[in-house]
Amino acid sequence: MRGLILSGGRGTRLRPLTFTNAKQLVPVANKPVLFYGIEALVAAGIMEIGIVVGDTREEIRSAVGDGSHWGCRITYIEQEAPLGLAHAVLISEDFLKGEPFVMYLGDNLIKNGITALVDEFRVRRPNAQILLAHVPNPSQFGVAELEGGRIVKLVEKPRHPKSDLALVGVYMFDPNIFPAVKAISPSWRGELEITDAIQHLVDQGLIVEPHVVDGWWKDMGKVEDLLEANRLVLETFEQRIEGSVDAESRIEGKVVIEKGAQVVASVIRGPAIIGMNAQISHSYVGPFSSIHNNVKITDSEIEHSIVLENAAIESINDRIESSLIGRNARISKLSLKPRAWRFNIGDNSEIGVH
Ligand code: G1P
Repeated sequence: MRGLILSGGRGTRLRPLTFTNAKQLVPVANKPVLFYGIEALVAAGIMEIGIVVGDTREEIRSAVGDGSHWGCRITYIEQEAPLGLAHAVLISEDFLKGEPFVMYLGDNLIKNGITALVDEFRVRRPNAQILLAHVPNPSQFGVAELEGGRIVKLVEKPRHPKSDLALVGVYMFDPNIFPAVKAISPSWRGELEITDAIQHLVDQGLIVEPHVVDGWWKDMGKVEDLLEANRLVLETFEQRIEGSVDAESRIEGKVVIEKGAQVVASVIRGPAIIGMNAQISHSYVGPFSSIHNNVKITDSEIEHSIVLENAAIESINDRIESSLIGRNARISKLSLKPRAWRFNIGDNSEIGVH
C-alpha cells in the first residue's frame, strides 16, 4: 500500500501566518502538523509516500527531505495550481502504480492515528473507506448522509447539511478511484472535489465503507482550530525537563522544557512546551502554551497560545491568551512618550485589545 499526502493549497484562512509559511508546516506542540501525518502513515506500515506540493514546494521539501528521518521514502509530486483534492489524485496516478493507497490531507490530525483503520481496509478490501466525525459546524466540511450504516449521499460544504458527519481528511482507495476522478467536473469553487469522486463510486455501486472515528480529529482551518489542536496534543504529554530551571521557578504538571531552554524566576503551568534555547524570565507561561525555539519571554504573562520561533515578548503584564504569534514578532512595552499603542503588523493580522 502507498501513501499520498496533500500539502498544496494556500491556507488563506490562516493568514497572515500562511503568507510566509506553508499551512502544513505550522507547528502544533512545536512540531509541524505535516509530520504527524507522515508518522501516522509510517506507523501503519506505509513506507512509500508521495507528497503533492504547490506554491510552498521548496519550504515543504526542505523541512521533510527524502523521508529518511522516518525510515520511509518520499516522492514529491507537483500540482501546478490548487485544482482540488481529486485533481491531486489524478496527477499522482503514475506514483500510485495501481496499488491501494491512503490519501492524507497534510493539515489533518487524528488522535488515535490510522493504523487500525488501515489494517481494517487491508483485510476487508472495500473499494474505498472514508472516515467521518461528528462536528458542530458541518457546513464547513464534506458531509455524509448515511442510511442503515451505508452512505447514501456525500456533499461538499452543503449550505443545509443533512447530518453532522464531516468527512475527515483521510481516505483509503483502490484503483477504482481513477475512473471516478476522471468522470467528475469542477465544483462551484473551481476544484475537482474528492467528495464528488467518492459519490461517483457510490453511484456506480462500488463498496465505500464509512467509519466514524472515536477520539478527536482536527483540521487546521482557522486559528481557533490550531489552538485547539495544540491543546489536544499537549494534553498527551508527560513531564520532561532537559533545559535549565532555576531555584526561583516553579514547574507544574505536564511541562516539556527542551535542551538549552532557560527558565528564570518564572512559573510554567502545564500542559506546555518550551522549545530549544527559549528564555523565559520573570514570567508566567500558563496551560496549553507552545513556546517555540529561541523565543524570549521576559516579565510577561501568557497562556493558551502558540508563539513561533525567535519571537520576543517583553514587559506585557496584562495576560496574553488565545494568541498565535508569528516568527520573529516582537511585542514589548515602550517607555517612549507619548504613551500609546504602536503597531507594525502584517496584512490580515488581528489584534484584540481591552
Ligand atoms: C477538505 C475536503 C472536505 C473535508 C476536509 C477535511 O476541505 O474537501 O470534504 O471535510 O478537507 O479537512 P478543504 O480543506 O479543502 O476545505
